[in-house]
Amino acid sequence: MLDLAFVKKDTQLYDPFCGSGTILIEGALRALNIPAGIGRGFAAERWDAVPPHIWKEERSRGLDLVHRDAQFCAFGSDIDRNAFELALDNARKAGVAERVRVRVRDIREFKVPDTAAVVVTNPPYGERMLDVQQARQIEKTMGRVFKRGMTGYYIISPDEEFEAQFGRRANKIRRLYNGMLRCNFYMYYGDRPKKDAP
Ligand SMILES: C[S@@+](CC[C@H](N)C(=O)[O-])C[C@H]1O[C@@H](n2cnc3c(N)ncnc32)[C@H](O)[C@@H]1O
Repeated sequence: MLDLAFVKKDTQLYDPFCGSGTILIEGALRALNIPAGIGRGFAAERWDAVPPHIWKEERSRGLDLVHRDAQFCAFGSDIDRNAFELALDNARKAGVAERVRVRVRDIREFKVPDTAAVVVTNPPYGERMLDVQQARQIEKTMGRVFKRGMTGYYIISPDEEFEAQFGRRANKIRRLYNGMLRCNFYMYYGDRPKKDAP
């Protein structure tokens, strides 16, 4: 999703249904070019075929390629205080807490500055939490608070009626799966300069 939303080293990324913070944290790792799994061990490190110095050199090479000058920052919010605490804790564990800000906030109060920000989000579906009618009410609210302008909006949802509830046709839709759940990824491009547009 972050690839499709063109999250880059200077992106301001928002997720107003941030839950445990997955999108914000993955966005930070991607924008800063932090190698996947840099902080963990691998079973293959015990294989004789790969001498230990190779692992050390590759880790060090990966860290040299981190975009330390990146302006990237991520802003998350969620109505649930537990989710908010979890997201903060996960960002700390992933080593990106400096780039991630989280707050408790209902979607009804969501605002983005009129800049070329990117919203990537996974709203409640009415499967595990809420019912379908409540989820659709949230989709309507998103249509109201996600203002047209420079910001691009990228929303994953299994609701085939999403565009009708949201109130706008997406610029593009990609079929994606969230686990076993068939979803659409609704892409609303912001008014960005042509050279940045996908
Ligand atoms: C599908 S989950 C998002 C999961 C998230 N991507 C993650 O990494 O954990 C939807 C989230 O929306 C939040 N939510 C539900 N109603 C909300 C509302 N009215 N305003 C803001 N957040 C809400 C829930 O607390 C939940 O964390």
